[in-house]
Amino acid sequence: MVLSILKGARILATGSAVPDLSIKNEELSQIVNTSNEWIVNRTGIQERRILKNKEESIITLASSASIKALKNASMNPLDIDLIILATSSPNDLFGSAAQVQAKIGAKKAVAFDLTAACSGFVLSVITAAQFIQNGSYNNILVVGADVLSKWIDWSDRSTCILFGDGAGAVVIQSCSKEENGILGFQLNTNGKEAQQLSIPYKENDIDSKHSHLLHINQGRFQHLYMNGKEVYKFAVSQVPISILKCLTSLNILPENIQWLLLHQANERILHAVANRLSITSNKIISNLNKYGNTSAASIPIALDEALKDKKIKKDDIIVVSGFGAGLTWGTVVIQWKY
Ligand code: ACO
Repeated sequence: MVLSILKGARILATGSAVPDLSIKNEELSQIVNTSNEWIVNRTGIQERRILKNKEESIITLASSASIKALKNASMNPLDIDLIILATSSPNDLFGSAAQVQAKIGAKKAVAFDLTAACSGFVLSVITAAQFIQNGSYNNILVVGADVLSKWIDWSDRSTCILFGDGAGAVVIQSCSKEENGILGFQLNTNGKEAQQLSIPYKENDIDSKHSHLLHINQGRFQHLYMNGKEVYKFAVSQVPISILKCLTSLNILPENIQWLLLHQANERILHAVANRLSITSNKIISNLNKYGNTSAASIPIALDEALKDKKIKKDDIIVVSGFGAGLTWGTVVIQWKY
């Protein structure tokens, strides 16, 4: 999508937070019938971080990542106009962004959740960029945070080995049009395949003394379900198309990008997408060996680490793509401006 903008938007700083508790593949092999070798060969994951005590939550992780991003931006929380929390695992069905706003003391900020599973961070960055590029807001905090350990069936070896908890945050700020760093995007949804990956709500057979009068049914959310093979095929076929469409609209050739930052789901997916685009593997940003799939948090955590490792340089072009439940997938092309 070619943007028509009044102002520029650029990422000023990043921050991330993961729980202290690390669970290694060997430990999982004591819970389910799996092995370190299978998990590493099929996914690249070696360990993942999991919330362990009741004091830790999605709010503490998201707030900690946000405070680090604000500190790295040398910004006071009171300067934030808007907080977008990309999450599919809030601790309140009405949303968790407002609790993050309160915890970090950003009391002038509007705050809302955005739910789009593993594509949530990409969608949130694009949403934030619209508010800045049309002149509505100047400083926006975008947080990707998920704690899917709460929704995993820990006896299901096909999913429990994949996911971890974490949060990553970016501060996006307005700038001149010439300095714009959020260059373009391409987004997609296919609700017809929603059943391939979901945490479904299911109604129970309630037989309360009032149910025959009120005709009310109630239920609960179930454990995460994923058809891994279908999601794999979807990701390696559709993500390269999204990236190519986005780069073409910006007149950028795949070989001219510096970094490919995909949702950290599976090492094989990262390489398959890069191969299809003839992007060399040294341009792939990957840290999923340490954290597994942290859903909406995976891209901002990997971005934060790549910046800490001083990989990303001024004016580098970073192609960022998310994909996951919905099904949703999409790309945002970023130019690093610092
Ligand atoms: N340990 C050992 N064996 C296992 C395990 C395990 N943990 N899990 C499955 N197996 C077995 C299966 O039972 C199967 O055995 P069978 O051949 O006897 O039936 C065999 O291993 C192969 O299973 P597959 O499911 O075909 O394995 P595959 O190579 O497809 O890898 C995986 C599975 C890693 C899940 C892969 O399909 C994948 O990465 N899919 C995409 C996931 C993804 O991208 N998600 C992103 C979005 S997440 C979100 O939006 C929240």
